Amino acid sequence: MSGIRLTNVSKSFGALKVIHGVDIEIEQGEFAVFVGPSGCGKSTLLRMIAGLEETSGGKIAIEGEDVTHREASKRGVAMVFQSYALYPHLSVYENMAFSLTIGRRPKAEIERKVKAAAEILRLGEYLNHKPSQLSGGQRQRVAIGRAIVREPRVFLFDEPLSNLDAELRVRMRMEIARLHRQIGATMVYVTHDQVEAMTLADKIIVLKAGLVQQIGAPLELYRNPANMFVAGFIGSPGMNFLKGRALAANGNALRVALEDAPGQAFDLPARTAVAVGTQVYVGVRPEHIELGARQGAVTVPVTAEFIEELGGTGYLHVLTGNGTEMTVECRDGRPQPKEKISLSLRVPEMLAFDTEGGRLS
Ligand SMILES: Nc1ncnc2c1ncn2[C@@H]1O[C@H](COP(=O)(O)OP(=O)(O)OP(=O)(O)O)[C@@H](O)[C@H]1O
Ligand SMILES: [Mg+2]
Repeated sequence: MSGIRLTNVSKSFGALKVIHGVDIEIEQGEFAVFVGPSGCGKSTLLRMIAGLEETSGGKIAIEGEDVTHREASKRGVAMVFQSYALYPHLSVYENMAFSLTIGRRPKAEIERKVKAAAEILRLGEYLNHKPSQLSGGQRQRVAIGRAIVREPRVFLFDEPLSNLDAELRVRMRMEIARLHRQIGATMVYVTHDQVEAMTLADKIIVLKAGLVQQIGAPLELYRNPANMFVAGFIGSPGMNFLKGRALAANGNALRVALEDAPGQAFDLPARTAVAVGTQVYVGVRPEHIELGARQGAVTVPVTAEFIEELGGTGYLHVLTGNGTEMTVECRDGRPQPKEKISLSLRVPEMLAFDTEGGRLS
C-alpha cells in the first residue's frame, strides 16, 4: 500500500514558486530520504506533508486518504526537527508523555507507551533526568521518543542529526535505522548529506531547485544516475568530470576522446544519437581510477596536488594537463605532492553527459 503519495504538488510563497509540480510515491513502511542542496525545497516539502505549510497546488495522500488541506494534528504524522525543542523544566518522562498528557490519555496508557519508547531508545535510566542533564544524542532520542508515543502513521525527520558532532551523528544514524527496522513505520527523512541518504534510505528522492531529479534505491542512483547533477551529488567524494568530444556515434556506440587523452579514443554504449564533434563530459568515480598505466584503460597524465589521508584509503587530488581537478581513491600507493603520474580510468565504469548534463551513455 502507498504510505505517502504526492501528485503534482507545488508551493509558492507569494510570487516565489519554490516547489514545481512534484510526484513522489512512498510505500507504507518505507524509509524515504529527501536529499539535495540548501534551498532546494526539502524542508518545505516535508512541512507540506506534515500540514505545517499550506499546499499551493496538487494533492497529498497518506495511506490512501487525501490530506492535502487537513490540519496537521489530524494527519497521523509526527515530526522531529534539528532543534530538539524539549521543555527544560520537565523530566525526560514528562517530555515524552507531553502530547498524551494534554490529550488526557489514561495514566496507565501513558506509562505503558512512554516506557516502551524509552526501551526502544535506551532511555530507561534517564526518565527522571532533566534535558540539561543529557548529551545532545540523548536529547535527540527524547525528541524521537516524543514522536514514537503518538504512534503516528508517518515519521517526518528534518535534519535531526545536524546539531551533533561527527561521531555521534554516525551512531545516531544507526539508531534511527534500527528504530525503523523495529517499528516499521513509514519514515521520511530530510538531509543535505548524501552519505546519510545513502546509508539510511530504502528510497532516495534527489531534489534540485524544487524539482525531482531522480527517485530510486541508493545503489540505483549511484550506478545509474539520471543526469550529471545526480551523478555528482551521490557518492563521496563525488564523481570526476572530464571534457571530451564525440568522434563518432552510430546507433549503439559513442566514440569519445578526452581532451586530456586525445590519442586514446574509446567506446561507450550510446543512449542517443550525438553529432560528431559535440562537446561531452565524461564522468568517472574516484574508486574507478587506478594509479599507473593499465591495459584497456584510458591513461591520463596528471600532477599530484595533495592527499586526504584516511588510513586504509587516501583521496588524492590531482590536476590534469588542461587544469581539471580530479580526486582518486588510493589504497596502495601514495604519490608525493607535485609528482607527475599517470591515472588509468576504467572505461566500463564511465558515463558520458551532454553539456546540459543529460545522459549520453
Ligand atoms: N516562509 C517562507 N517564505 C518565503 N520563502 C521561503 C519560506 N520558506 C522557505 N522559503 C524559500 O523556499 C526555498 C526552499 O526552502 P527550504 O527551507 O525548503 O530549503 P531546504 O532544501 O530545506 O534547504 P536547507 O538544506 O538549507 O534546509 C528557499 O529558496 C527558501 O528561501
Ligand atoms: Mg531545510
